Amino acid sequence: GAPVEVDIGDIPVGTMKTVEWRGKPVWIIHRSPEQIAGLKTQDALLADPQSKRPGFTPKYAENEGRSRKPEIFVCVGICTHLGCSPTSHFETGGGGGMGASWQGGFLCPCHGSTFDLAGRVYKNKPAPDNLEVPPYQYLTDSRIIVG
Ligand code: FES
Repeated sequence: GAPVEVDIGDIPVGTMKTVEWRGKPVWIIHRSPEQIAGLKTQDALLADPQSKRPGFTPKYAENEGRSRKPEIFVCVGICTHLGCSPTSHFETGGGGGMGASWQGGFLCPCHGSTFDLAGRVYKNKPAPDNLEVPPYQYLTDSRIIVG
């Protein structure tokens, strides 16, 4: 499939946009400073907080936010368990059936896998891996190309 150019300048903070790339949904999430700070609090709860498992995190996304820039998170919106599409939950505290430490993220309706706002899967969930970060680059501050 062809690369897809995406205008990211119009995504309000704390929301996301979905585009299609190679027949898959790609999410672009505009994280707030609070959401970025919240990522740091989740490591002990996550299966692979440093994204060490191969195949899902390009080199440039091997950081806490799994992204080229902290405020913009790009991932493939397909659960790494059996391929359902998780839903977004941007509220904090007790959301997504999680405890008070919940900082927002994604919940897979099929078998309950849960991911944080960097697509990192929580422990003891059926999904084995973090959500995939696709290849992407910045063309300008407000435009990226996926693929
Ligand atoms: Fe997402 Fe099974 S497909 S938890």
